[in-house]
Amino acid sequence: MSAGIFRRTLAPDEPALICVVAGDDAAPEVVWPTVEILQRLVPELRFVRGSSGREAEERYGAAFPQETRELIDRAVCTLFGASGGPSRPVLWYLRWSKDTRVNIRPVRWQPGYRSPMREPEHFDFVIVRDNLEGMYPPREGDLAELAALASSRSWWQPPPLDRQGAYAVRICTDEQMAYVAQAACELALERKAQGYPGRVTLGAKYSIQPRTDGRFREIVRETVRRYGELEYQEFLIDDLARRMVAVPESLDVVVLSNEHGDILADMAAGCIGGLGLAPSGCYGPTYAYFEPVHGSAPDLAGKGVINPTAMLLSGAMLLDYLGYGEQALRLREAVAEVYRRGQVLPPDQGGRATTAEFVEAVRHFL
Ligand code: NAD
Ligand code: IPM
Ligand code: MN
Repeated sequence: MSAGIFRRTLAPDEPALICVVAGDDAAPEVVWPTVEILQRLVPELRFVRGSSGREAEERYGAAFPQETRELIDRAVCTLFGASGGPSRPVLWYLRWSKDTRVNIRPVRWQPGYRSPMREPEHFDFVIVRDNLEGMYPPREGDLAELAALASSRSWWQPPPLDRQGAYAVRICTDEQMAYVAQAACELALERKAQGYPGRVTLGAKYSIQPRTDGRFREIVRETVRRYGELEYQEFLIDDLARRMVAVPESLDVVVLSNEHGDILADMAAGCIGGLGLAPSGCYGPTYAYFEPVHGSAPDLAGKGVINPTAMLLSGAMLLDYLGYGEQALRLREAVAEVYRRGQVLPPDQGGRATTAEFVEAVRHFL
């Protein structure tokens, strides 16, 4: 049963089964404490562990074994740590096989976050990123393969076929762009009900790429117009990057292509205080998975100091998805309280707490 893009209503007899794929490097160090906190908040959730990467290779002889695929399929959603390479086939499966079309990446500073900005309280917007198309998944090849195309397209800048080189293909379907646009509008409406302006901002390179980003612009404009009660603004993507830093208070819901969203989400995370703070959720018509914006932080693996905030807040998004809004709020409030007090913070936030000490502090305020 579905209840909009960002919610899933469970049928009365449907178990709230969640697959957990912890991922590579330091990712498991934030995943398992998060599972423990979610379980404490909602005892009826059932978590099943899907093995991947090196651990799965040893146990099953494959980085993405059939067993894990089946657990992902049986579950209503997945909590994913991050891939540092070995778990990438799982990420690919969660995106393209589970058709999770849109990636929601909230960017919100709160007191205690160690932001490099002068007025970090102005950061309170959400990036809506295409999760499936654009340059992803990679489709690359030798320049020579373009020879046939070059001769049949008079308007094209012909590629330098006399040189060695490669190309990459960018795909943008109307259907996917419309889904992303609709998700942005739905989110802007939800936020408007909470007091935000109800403003959708598109960032794209429509001036230079009329068939892809230009079409994206048409579709987003038209979708926002149909919704009626939303504001709309659009900027070329390079200018939008500047605005994100200079006037973040002008942003509410920011709709971006896959690559632009990938890059600007990390940049925005840097503005509020770092990757340790940035959660995300990926939603499709029938499935969702939740992962932090950050990667597997290989430089922190085994040190016990990775910041679990991004993962915990991704867990809160999971709770919202399954209709446990009250528990999600409790979790967010507990995290906020730890930052407000500022006594138990991980090293990326200027403190000396270990991951375990930080999680213990959050648990205390649940
Ligand atoms: P990264 O996000 O793992 O790390 C970048 C920097 O941020 C590092 O200095 C790291 O220590 C720090 N950092 C990240 N998360 C942190 C946290 N929770 N607390 C404190 N500090 C944190 O990005 P990278 O180093 O460019 O990539 C490492 C690997 O992760 C690569 O294999 C990359 O492809 C992968 N990756 C995966 C995902 C995903 O699975 N969705 C996302 C991004 C990167
Ligand atoms: C992310 C990551 C991924 C992406 C990589 C690991 C494929 O950077 O989720 O932000 O580019 O989408
Ligand atoms: Mn990324």
